Amino acid sequence: MSPQAMTAGAASLANGFFITFEGGEGAGKSTQIRRLAKQLEQGGWRVIVTREPGGSPGAEAVRHVLLSGAAEPFGAKTEAILFAAARADHVDTVIRPGVEAGKVVLCDRYFDSSRVYQGATGNLAPAFMQQLETVAIDGMMPDLTLILDIDPRLGLTRADQRRGSGEADRFEKETLAIHRARRNAFLEIAHDEPERCAVVDASHDVARTADRIWTVLEERLPALTRRARTRVHV
Ligand code: TYD
Repeated sequence: MSPQAMTAGAASLANGFFITFEGGEGAGKSTQIRRLAKQLEQGGWRVIVTREPGGSPGAEAVRHVLLSGAAEPFGAKTEAILFAAARADHVDTVIRPGVEAGKVVLCDRYFDSSRVYQGATGNLAPAFMQQLETVAIDGMMPDLTLILDIDPRLGLTRADQRRGSGEADRFEKETLAIHRARRNAFLEIAHDEPERCAVVDASHDVARTADRIWTVLEERLPALTRRARTRVHV
């Protein structure tokens, strides 16, 4: 691990913060991220909103290959390596530089999605997934991971409404049983890593979920919310 990577895990040392959002389809992650970004910006923070797979030019190119299903014929292992490759580029070019510059980086999905989609429901060996994760993140651990939890039936209905007549992506198309297994896998991660993760019930309306997220931030990252105390309704 590089000396840079060793300090990056404790992102707040550099005064920035790295927060990841996880959860199944239709949990409302991107809406919540946009709201939170506005709130933090109004409180004086510089914020980077980003997502995975993607978030940097190199990673966005890989995103297209993954979500179109073009990589599916090559198998779960190849897909997992591609997710990790995209992540490594994203960490190096966007996440770490952002946190080191004192910004708040809000990321829609990160390595927990690989653990769940490729690991738990893609049946790849935990040891293989762990190695990929280590290489991809190079020590860049989130300060906080918010797991937006929702019953997959409700989540998929929301995702359908959002998509309208557009096509479901490679991962949205899978069966309800798989979506349920993913929900359980996310909850298991939260249970195993309570210091890093917080579960937020995402079945309520946008404003209530946003309030709950803010409360979690106040509890977990007081240095972040103190500077953005004014509660604005965006
Ligand atoms: P996206 O359109 O960003 O959807 P969402 O709103 O659900 O985040 O699609 C990303 C898809 O890629 C999503 O189905 C989850 C999947 N994914 C993985 O399988 N592994 C990963 O490591 C990541 C980051 C995403």
